[in-house]
Amino acid sequence: RRLAILASGRGSNLQALLDAIAAGMLDAEIVGVFSDKLEAPALQRVEASKRWSRDAKAYAHRSDFDDELAEAIAATSPDWVVCAGYLRLLDAGFVARFRGRLLNIHPSLLPAYRGLKTHARAIADGVAEHGASVHFVSPELDAGAVIAQATVPVLPGDTPDALAARVLAVEHPLLLAVVALAVAGRIAECDGTVLMDGHPM
Ligand code: GRF
Repeated sequence: RRLAILASGRGSNLQALLDAIAAGMLDAEIVGVFSDKLEAPALQRVEASKRWSRDAKAYAHRSDFDDELAEAIAATSPDWVVCAGYLRLLDAGFVARFRGRLLNIHPSLLPAYRGLKTHARAIADGVAEHGASVHFVSPELDAGAVIAQATVPVLPGDTPDALAARVLAVEHPLLLAVVALAVAGRIAECDGTVLMDGHPM
């Protein structure tokens, strides 16, 4: 199965998938890494021929960038498109084009803390638990059907960075588990509901 990855930054989630593929634990191929940042470190994790990046801020309209991104992704014929640390909203046209095979990992227990700065907000609220979610992408930010979540405790004295590191450690196996289900053809989205092996979860 062919995977296209969207990433804006470091790319440790991408690396977790690459490591699993190299270890024979994930039957998939990364066919492209796509970024809205020209110098995203994530790009360096794959060979040059698989890198695509543009400076999204240089485009006058969001849809101009997203249309070009969608064309570049479609050219790699992916079975699944995975947002792994992609920090930019995708427009409705992009989501419509890939809907049902478009996944995102988000560092919170959705529906709590959509958007950015999730760790600082969780600490400020004094919640006992935080974590990460993998979901199908819908047009509304971080609002698509949740496939799986992983939970960590929020500890006394936590800083946003300390909590982010604890969450990141569970993000990698969580994303791998969901991508493995995806490439095995075991998950699907139907009318905003996740189907596992054809049954609502
Ligand atoms: C992860 O916490 C991801 O959930 C969030 O941004 C971070 C990206 O990490 N959206 P990396 O680029 O995969 O290392």
